[in-house]
Amino acid sequence: MSLFGSAHFDNHEQVVFCHDEASGLKAIIAVHNTNRGPALGGCRMWAYASEDDALTDVLRLSKGMTYKNALANLPYGGGKSVIIGDAKTQKTPAMMRAMGRMVDRLNGTYTIAEDVGTNPDDMTEIRRGTPHVKGVKGEGGDPSPATAYGVFSGIKASVKYKLGREDLNGLRVAVQGLGHVGYDLANQLRLAGAELVVTDIDKAALTRAEKELGAKVVSLDEIYDADVDIYAPCALGATLNESTIPRLKASIVAGSANNQLATDTDGDQLARRGILYAPDYVINAGGVIHIYHEGPDYDHDRAFAHVAGIGDVLLEVYALAESEALATHLAADRLAERRFRLDAAQQAA
Ligand SMILES: NC(=O)c1ccc[n+]([C@@H]2O[C@H](COP(=O)([O-])OP(=O)(O)OC[C@H]3O[C@@H](n4cnc5c(N)ncnc54)[C@H](O)[C@@H]3O)[C@@H](O)[C@H]2O)c1
Repeated sequence: MSLFGSAHFDNHEQVVFCHDEASGLKAIIAVHNTNRGPALGGCRMWAYASEDDALTDVLRLSKGMTYKNALANLPYGGGKSVIIGDAKTQKTPAMMRAMGRMVDRLNGTYTIAEDVGTNPDDMTEIRRGTPHVKGVKGEGGDPSPATAYGVFSGIKASVKYKLGREDLNGLRVAVQGLGHVGYDLANQLRLAGAELVVTDIDKAALTRAEKELGAKVVSLDEIYDADVDIYAPCALGATLNESTIPRLKASIVAGSANNQLATDTDGDQLARRGILYAPDYVINAGGVIHIYHEGPDYDHDRAFAHVAGIGDVLLEVYALAESEALATHLAADRLAERRFRLDAAQQAA
């Protein structure tokens, strides 16, 4: 595949192919945009079917990080890396150290962190090769509580905008996926007086939610028909598609899952149906905001106050969508572009 001709190239600043013979590392580091600061984005390890698939993924993901970091008001640009291989069978400490050395050659242009297929132990190995790493074991901590709090703050802002209410008391919320983020979110919603309808493939999580949160359990498919005010997808991507959107009764969609829209058209379809969609990369930015605050000076209250700002960012997105008659996912992209492109103009001045 031609890199510059790729549909996903989108003005990337730098794309680096990395190979380390001794450890077998094969990786690609993509730096999309550094106008706001060094590129920050996770490292995904995945058994890609082809190098083209790996390149497409890293380009798509690094661009996404530029938008996410800009809307989260972080002094970071967007980047991402992928290691080609099976994380369960092919990953070794030597490979991670080699990856650290590759990142180090970029002299701080790219800061690596964990993603699917990598974990805090891997970041510890990577640290042996470079200081440009976040989420090292013992320094980071689980970002999920911050993500859940960000989604909760985003739901409150969305309710205020769409329903004109300051509280969640008595509102019905369908939570799809009771994992690290979903369960914590469900708990916060319950404490705020919401009624919960939940689903998951994990029966133990459902039993717990029934007992502890008084949640109503429905099947994996029934969640789309639930008679609720808010649908919070916190499991898989692409759950907003042509077969599910017509079934939704909710007037707000706001959850943590990545890539919730199967296609951009589905975002338009939600807008046509009058359903307020909180763009996924805006509302689920709590984790990356938390990473920004990590380190020896970590202050929980300061970090969580920053995360709560996600609500205000969403209100900005909704205002722009309304004033320019755009679907909210497009308004979010436009607002992000203003932020990272404006900074470029400032740099040039
Ligand atoms: N953890 C974070 O800080 C963070 C940050 C940003 C985005 N996200 C995104 O939020 C989502 C949830 O993340 P997480 O860390 O809680 O993951 P997780 O793996 O802890 O939880 C996912 C939950 O979804 C359930 N699930 C899987 N398939 C399902 C299905 N078909 N229907 C219903 N439930 C199903 C799983 O059993 C699990 O309980 C993911 O899409 C993730 O990419 C997470």
